[in-house]
Amino acid sequence: MNQLADLLQHSDYPVVMTGAGMSTESGLPDFRSNTGLWKNQNPAALASVEAMENNRSEFLAFYQSRIEALAGVLPNDGHHILADWEQKGFIKSIITQNVDGLHQQAGSRHVAELHGSIAALHCHSCGASADSSRYTNNETSCPVCGGFLRPNIVLFGEMLPEEAIAFAQQESTRADLFIVLGSSLSVAPASYFPVDAKQQGARLVIVNRTETDMDKEADLLVQGENIGSILKEADHHLKD
Ligand code: APR
Repeated sequence: MNQLADLLQHSDYPVVMTGAGMSTESGLPDFRSNTGLWKNQNPAALASVEAMENNRSEFLAFYQSRIEALAGVLPNDGHHILADWEQKGFIKSIITQNVDGLHQQAGSRHVAELHGSIAALHCHSCGASADSSRYTNNETSCPVCGGFLRPNIVLFGEMLPEEAIAFAQQESTRADLFIVLGSSLSVAPASYFPVDAKQQGARLVIVNRTETDMDKEADLLVQGENIGSILKEADHHLKD
């Protein structure tokens, strides 16, 4: 029997938390692995309010490239398996740090986007929303007030969306199985949720190519393998 499948079948409330490693098999870079976005770029100089205000041209170029990189990117097998598992009741929800919208595109419904979504923009002055295609057309002025249009994502130093946090807290408390897929667990408060779940008595699964700070707390640790193949293997056993 496959250990992950076995844990899923013997749990009442499995919850999944994903990081950028969930989307690398769709062709998107993660942040902290050898090919990650932060390998040769300083997050604080690009993904912060300070950068948006004082380093606007690089801020804009960075997010224009991330929005353009999403064009044509599709959910991978792992995203589809998680959506299928939600439909079948094998998992209850997904807490994601990703802003690419690939879980929802694959059909997952109960998704908390802790760090927002790059699919849309809003005005930093009046809050009016705008489509992210404006960035690809180099349009950055708010059509309502002329303010600066910025992506709907949480920049370093900003508060996370209250609704997403509340949902993630609720789900981490209810979870009796908490599955981390493709995150280095190095950014708070997202990194607190597996700790909360574990403290509430949940069993913890970590599937990540490289080490995380939570590895020694994991009841099942799957390291060095791709999420897609791990989920496919477990899915095969769940179908048996
Ligand atoms: N299968 C398994 N693990 C993978 C795969 C894969 N196909 N691809 C990458 N990984 C692992 C990497 O080894 C890495 O440890 O996924 C992890 C991704 O970690 P990070 O790059 O740190 O991404 P994440 O944890 O999501 O970062 C959290 O940091 O910069 C902020 O807002 C940004 O949401 C992001 C947050």
